[in-house]
Amino acid sequence: MNEQFRTIKNEALQAIETATTVSALQDVRNTYLSKKGIVVGLMANLKTIPNEEKKVYGQQVNDLKALIEEKLSTKLEVLSAAELSAKLAADVIDLTLPGRSFNVAPQHPFHLIKDEISEIFLGMGYTIAEGHEVEEDYFNFTLLNMPENHPARDMQDSFYLNDKELLRTHTSPVQARVMQENKNKPIKIISPGKVYRRDDDDNTHSHQFGQVEGLVIGEDLSLGNLKATLLLFTQKMFGAAREIRFRGSYFPFTEPSVEVDVSCHECNGQGCATCKGTGWIEILGAGMVNPRVLVANGYDVEKFSGFAFGIGIERVAMLRYGIDDIRRFYQNDVRFLDEFKKR
Ligand code: DAH
Repeated sequence: MNEQFRTIKNEALQAIETATTVSALQDVRNTYLSKKGIVVGLMANLKTIPNEEKKVYGQQVNDLKALIEEKLSTKLEVLSAAELSAKLAADVIDLTLPGRSFNVAPQHPFHLIKDEISEIFLGMGYTIAEGHEVEEDYFNFTLLNMPENHPARDMQDSFYLNDKELLRTHTSPVQARVMQENKNKPIKIISPGKVYRRDDDDNTHSHQFGQVEGLVIGEDLSLGNLKATLLLFTQKMFGAAREIRFRGSYFPFTEPSVEVDVSCHECNGQGCATCKGTGWIEILGAGMVNPRVLVANGYDVEKFSGFAFGIGIERVAMLRYGIDDIRRFYQNDVRFLDEFKKR
């Protein structure tokens, strides 16, 4: 091996020996073995070598190349392993550190009761229908027997977004939407959701609140079916001893319309502060679906009849939990939520 080979070999081995990082080793590889590297340069010199020496020369270049490859790969293994252990040592996780604790918020009473109401009706075979909080005037009023300029539109002060759309004032437009989708087929749905009214807030009024709408359409339905349904609901919600009574009322979309009272759960109907001495508490509005509404939404009134109801979610929650001010549901006071965690 001539002097030139020996020098190159020694320098290469020295460089590999002293490299302390994977990237320094990569530089050594480039210097010697890349396309423009020193060893490839030696091979290019082959053409200047006399023919009879070519074989030996070529062999020497190849041997040198193989040697450098081998040393590089051995050293690469050593350095990679060292770098990996250094990285692992730096990233070490102390498994004995205590975790950060945080409070899991209890469920809001609005949702507790909304879910409980829904469960009761799901158990009776109802399905849940979704509506639109931004609703068309047409669904919120017109299809529910409140054409433009109908005085009943004033029963619910509304937030209009433009000429045609408003924040729905009740969940009843879901009735119209579901009827339009099912024309002349039976229906049995509830639809829980938010509604909005331009009311001044006080302890029993809020500009936003929740309702659960109910709609059942089938053949031969009567007020008796409505009463049995609502009695079952009230007994599940307020206790098996509860009774209900119907009082005649008016809603444009039901005929006849009723307001439903439940016997007071505090005093068992004897009369107390909760029921203002009457023994009864009003809990919801309901009625038989007005035939005009059935017709407007594509139903044959010779064959189909139906009943509907609208339950105020906060109203039920206030009675169940003894909450005296509806505004508390919307004040975001965490202490209010904590009260329900303890129950
Ligand atoms: N939509 C009525 C309201 O918000 C409540 C209501 C009454 C709904 C009677 C009904 C019903 O489905 O039959 O005041």
